[in-house]
Amino acid sequence: MERKELRRAEGITRAHYSETADHSLTVVSLARLIGLVMGLDSDAQRRVELGALGHDFGKWAVRAQVLAKPGIRTDAEFEEIQEHPEAGPILVDLCDLPVLEEAKPFMVGHHVYPDGSGYPKMKFQEIGPEVPIATMADTAAVVHFGRIYQEHPPLSLPQVVERLRPHRGTQFVPEVFDAFEEGVSSTRKRLLLTG
Ligand SMILES: [Fe+2]
Ligand SMILES: [Fe+2]
Repeated sequence: MERKELRRAEGITRAHYSETADHSLTVVSLARLIGLVMGLDSDAQRRVELGALGHDFGKWAVRAQVLAKPGIRTDAEFEEIQEHPEAGPILVDLCDLPVLEEAKPFMVGHHVYPDGSGYPKMKFQEIGPEVPIATMADTAAVVHFGRIYQEHPPLSLPQVVERLRPHRGTQFVPEVFDAFEEGVSSTRKRLLLTG
């Protein structure tokens, strides 16, 4: 049952805008890596991976042509995109997808940062302790692949670590950033040893 619901959730996301579905799968991989380095217990790890998978579900409420638009977005388009965190839980209920119930905090909080910036306007302390892992994985995935509206080309994961380091503590919880960095460097070492 759960699997069927997850497939339906992915199908809805993919039908609307396939890049969001592909992006979410990358966020799952990176969130898994961070969670493993942080030593989360199996239940927390499962929640984080589900949250990573569903974090952008609310983008279904944003027009696909806005999501896909290359170059700079207008203020109105940016406002439309900023609605996706709060739209997520509403869409989960409308679509009757209880499997995504535990992903709701990740949908709402993944653009809320420790320094109080981001959206929607809410206190960082309210977003839940595991959500910052999805925030780290989300931003890393965007920078890694380089979205069409960004100016920079795709970066390797070690380059992503350096690009995001200035935001350790402001945009990213320090322990989460450190776990991401450790995960990237240990994966790289393993690849170099076996490659
Ligand atoms: Fe998002
Ligand atoms: Fe995202």
